[in-house]
Formats: sequence, C-alpha cells, structure tokens
Amino acid sequence: MKHRFVQDDPSRVSTVKHDVQLIERKLAVAEYQTLRAAVGWPEVADEAVARGLAGDLFSVAAELDGHTIGCARVVGDGGIYLYVQDVIVLPPHQGRGIGKCLMDRVIAFVDSVSGHHTTVALMAAKGVVPFYEKYGFVTRPADGPGMYRLWS
Ligand SMILES: CC(C)(COP(=O)(O)OP(=O)(O)OC[C@H]1O[C@@H](n2cnc3c(N)ncnc32)[C@H](O)[C@@H]1OP(=O)(O)O)[C@@H](O)C(=O)NCCC(=O)NCCS
Repeated sequence: MKHRFVQDDPSRVSTVKHDVQLIERKLAVAEYQTLRAAVGWPEVADEAVARGLAGDLFSVAAELDGHTIGCARVVGDGGIYLYVQDVIVLPPHQGRGIGKCLMDRVIAFVDSVSGHHTTVALMAAKGVVPFYEKYGFVTRPADGPGMYRLWS
C-alpha cells in the first residue's frame, strides 16, 4: 500500500469550484489559528498548534486569490486509526461546495492508506452530522459513545 503523507508538492494543486484552489500542504500556525477563530472554536496555544500541525498525516488548504479560506486534516497512526480533523470553510464561503471538495481529498487520502478494519473517526460539530453522513460516517450508539476530555 502506498502511503501519501504530506509534502509540499505543486503537482497536488487543483482548481475546483469558483476559482478555489485545493493545495495539499501543511498549514502555517497563523493561518490555522485564523480559520479556527473564524468558526468560533476555542483558542489553542501556538506552541501546541505548531506541534499538532507538524504531526499531520495529511493536510489540504483551500485558497482563493492567495487567501486561505478552508482546510481539512487527517491525523493518526497512518494505518490502524485515522482521525479527520479541522474541516473548516470560512463562513462567507460556506454552502458553495468547498467543504465537499475538501472532504473528497480527505477520503482519497484515507483510501490510499486504509486497509481492512482501519478505523476512521471524527467528532462532528453541532449540526454537521448530515455533512459527514454523506461520506458513510455513522454516529456511535448511545451504549458505546465516543468520549473526550478537553485539557485545561
Ligand atoms: C461543515 C463545513 C466544513 C461544510 O462546508 P461547506 O463548504 O459549507 O459545505 P458544502 O457547501 O461543500 O456542502 C456539501 C454538502 O453538505 C451539506 N452540508 C454542509 N454543511 C451542512 C450542515 N451543517 N448540515 C447539513 N448538511 C450540510 C450541503 O448541503 C451539501 O449537500 P449536497 O452535496 O447534497 O448539496 C462548513 O460549514 C464549516 O466550516 N463549518 C464550521 C466548522 C465546522 O463545524 N466544521 C466541521 C467540524 S466537525
């Protein structure tokens, strides 16, 4: 199985809807923080973000006129457990198919590294379950829920 981990590679640029380019590349700390803040997610320290972004398995940015307007990432161990994270489209650009294009790239990456019984998980934000259901994700049953803790 060929692993396709993140590298900055101009050949992985494509223009999708409305002149938006999708570029498979690492995100800079500042652009990640800007995207996160724009959708109202709580602040994470720059140092933690830098460590986190360095550990991506896959990352894709959506750019319009040189500005980053969206992103998606995959983290995990690269074979057994993969987690889809940070699927973000800036609010003025939502509802135009950009999130779908980002997820299509995520799924292509996941396909390239996953085998039988690889677990691909995510935590859906409020109201976003139907978006992920389009990609075959299902909600865990109430008697086997996902759990998390936010460190403070
Ligand atoms: C969720 C998000 C990434 C979707 O991006 P988007 O560019 O607005 O989505 P798209 O326009 O590509 O929509 C793709 C499809 O999903 C549907 N969809 C998008 N957001 C949805 C939502 N919140 N609820 C239900 N369906 C949704 C669209 O109707 C569309 O359906 P279609 O293909 O049948 O027409 C974007 O709304 C966002 O950044 N939200 C804030 C951050 C967030 O919560 N991210 C998810 C983290 S778990």
